[in-house]
Amino acid sequence: MERGVPEEEGGGWRAVHRRLIFFGLVVLFVVQTGLTWTSSTRVAEGRGTLDEAARRGRQVYQEFNCTACHQFYGLGGYMGPDLTNVTRAEGKGPAYAKGIILHGTKRMPALGVSAAQADDLVAYLDAWAASGTYPVRAVNLTPWGTYREMHTTDDR
Ligand code: HEC
Repeated sequence: MERGVPEEEGGGWRAVHRRLIFFGLVVLFVVQTGLTWTSSTRVAEGRGTLDEAARRGRQVYQEFNCTACHQFYGLGGYMGPDLTNVTRAEGKGPAYAKGIILHGTKRMPALGVSAAQADDLVAYLDAWAASGTYPVRAVNLTPWGTYREMHTTDDR
């Protein structure tokens, strides 16, 4: 044989090489999975949960069919604006939302919601506001691709 490296020797090195790559990929997979599960499955306090008032508010929201005209995260009817962040948006807030819910505007009819129902609706809307922002303009990312925070404006 003219070749410098005997057949088995080259084959042996290739096998070790392949095993190294395989274990490297396994380790990377485990690390990535670990980071993803520990960082992006953590839910901040008050997020993704509805207290008593918000639960009642959800019921009222369904009874009055607010979703016929309004959206959360862009989903719903399109006669009125998206309500995801109305209780925390600049220049708006809980009192603003309650006022419109009780009295309507030129474009939104007053639906006959009672004061107690309006309070529950505002609690429900605020639970949405606590869940995130919409529309999302900027995202504060971790190096492994999950996000720390979402922002409705370009500044972080
Ligand atoms: C017939 C369609 C319609 C229904 C039903 C309706 N809305 Fe509206 N809503 C509107 C429109 C249109 C506006 C915008 C009013 C304006 O700008 O004058 C609005 C505005 C609002 C606002 C202020 C939003 C903002 O960002 O300024 C809130 C809060 C709101 N509605 C809550 C509700 C709730 C809660 C219900 C159910 C009880 C409801 N709406 C049912 C059409 C509707």
